[in-house]
Amino acid sequence: MSTPDILSFLAKQLKPYRGRMETVDRLPERGRSHQEVLSLLEQLRQLEAGRWQTGYASGAVYHGGAEHTEFLSAAYKTQSQSNPLHPDIWPSAAKFEAEVVAMTARMLSGDAVRTHRRGDRVVGAVSTGGTESILLAMLAYRDWGREEKGIAQPEIVVPVTAHAAFEKAAHYFGLRLVRVPVAEDLRADVEAMRAAVNENTVVLVASAPSFPHGVIDPIEEIAALAGEHDIGCHVDACLGGFVLPWAERLGYPVPPFDFRVPGVTSISVDTHKYGFAAKGTSVVLYRSADLFHHQCYTAADWPGGLYVSSTLLGSRPGALIAAAWAALVATGEDGYMAAAKGILAAADRLKQGVREIPDLKVLGDPLFVVAIASDTLDIYQVMEQMAQRGWSLNGLHHPPAFHIALTRRHAEEGVVERFLSDLQASTDEVRRSPEVRTGMAPLYGMAAMAPGELVHGLLEAYIDVLYEV
Ligand SMILES: Cc1ncc(COP(=O)(O)O)c(C=O)c1O
Repeated sequence: MSTPDILSFLAKQLKPYRGRMETVDRLPERGRSHQEVLSLLEQLRQLEAGRWQTGYASGAVYHGGAEHTEFLSAAYKTQSQSNPLHPDIWPSAAKFEAEVVAMTARMLSGDAVRTHRRGDRVVGAVSTGGTESILLAMLAYRDWGREEKGIAQPEIVVPVTAHAAFEKAAHYFGLRLVRVPVAEDLRADVEAMRAAVNENTVVLVASAPSFPHGVIDPIEEIAALAGEHDIGCHVDACLGGFVLPWAERLGYPVPPFDFRVPGVTSISVDTHKYGFAAKGTSVVLYRSADLFHHQCYTAADWPGGLYVSSTLLGSRPGALIAAAWAALVATGEDGYMAAAKGILAAADRLKQGVREIPDLKVLGDPLFVVAIASDTLDIYQVMEQMAQRGWSLNGLHHPPAFHIALTRRHAEEGVVERFLSDLQASTDEVRRSPEVRTGMAPLYGMAAMAPGELVHGLLEAYIDVLYEV
C-alpha cells in the first residue's frame, strides 16, 4: 500500500460526511437559529451513538447509560459559565474541585500517607485528562529534581508499556526518557529499571494497569526501588483507579498499587474513564503539598495582576469539573462496586472465550483490558475482520495484537457473546484466506516494519487529514 493509497483510505474513514452534508468553512453571514444548529448536532449524535451504545467500541465511553448521560448533561448545564480561574465569582468551582480531589484521594487510600510520615497529606488537582495529569506529574518531578536535588538534566525511567503521554512529557519538558523493557509477563522489569536508575533519575513510572495489555506493574517493588534512591514513583492509574479498589474488595487479585505503598509519591486517575464523568477531567494526586507545588505556577509581578495556576491551562471548564463531581457523588461506592462487578465478570467471560478459540491467545494476565494475539495468524487481519463486523478495537505493536478495554457497555447482556462469535468468525475467515490484507491491517503491518521516520511522516499526514474540512 503506497502512502497516497493509505491517506485516501484514511480520508474515507475519517471524513464520512464529506459530500453528504454541508461543509461550514466560514462564519455564516447570518447566524442560524438555535433550533437549526441543535437539530444538526442531534442528527450527528444519532448517526454516531449506536455503535458505542451497543458495545462495539473498546473503551471510549465507559458508562454510556442513557439516564446517566442525561444526568451529566444536566449537571454541565447548571455550570456552563463557570471558570475555576475566578473562584471569587464561582466559589462552587473551588468546592467541586477540592471535593473531587478529596474523594479520589480517599478512594486510593490517601489516609495511609499520614501513617508513613507525619504531616503528609494527599493533595492534587483536576486536569483535563490522563495526558495532562501525566504531563503535570512529570513537570513536578523535573522541577523537584532541579530545585531540591540540583539535577540539571532530569531523567524519567519508564517501562515501554507506559502510556505515550510520558514520552510526550519528556518531549515537552526536556526530560530524558529512559525506556526499559518489560518482562515476559508484560509487567515492568524491575531489574531493568534498577539498572536504568542513575544520579539524574527523578522518577520511576508504573502503570495500574498498562494501556496496551491491561497488566499491573509490580508497584511495590518499583516504589521500594524509588524509595532506596529517594526519588519519585508515579503510578499511572488513569485506567485502573476507579476499578481496582473495588476489584480488590470483590476478591480479584489486585496487588497493592495506591498510597498504601509507602514509596508511591503520585497517582494519575481518570474521572472521565471509569469514574463515569463526561470527557475532559482527570485527577493528579501527590503524597505531599511540597511535591504538588512544583506543578503549580505563580506570577507575582505581571502587570495583569497576581496570577496563580495549578494545572497547564489558565481558564478551565468549571462545568466539566462540576459534572465530574456530580458523577462521583451520584455513583457512590455502591455504584462503582456494582459497575466493577459487572465489568470484571464480562471480562472473565471474554478471556475464557478467547482462550477457547484456536490460534488466539490472551497476552499476560489482565483484569479488564484484554490484549489478543496469535502465533499463527495475522492478528491485524483478524482485527480488520472484526472492524468489518462493526467493532472498533485498538491495534497494538511489539508484539502485534489488539485489545478491548471492557466498559459498562460490554457488561450489558449478550455483548461479550456477540464479541466472541464475531471473533470466532473473524478468525475462521483469516484462517481460510491467510493471504488477504485489507483495511487497516497492511497499515499496522507496515508500521511495525517501516523506518520510524516514515511512520512519523504518515502520522503527521494523518493529522493533516483530520484538520481538512
Ligand atoms: C494507562 C493510561 N494512561 C494515560 C492515558 C491517557 O489518558 P487521556 O487519553 O485521557 O489523556 C490512558 C488513556 O487511555 C491510559 O490508558
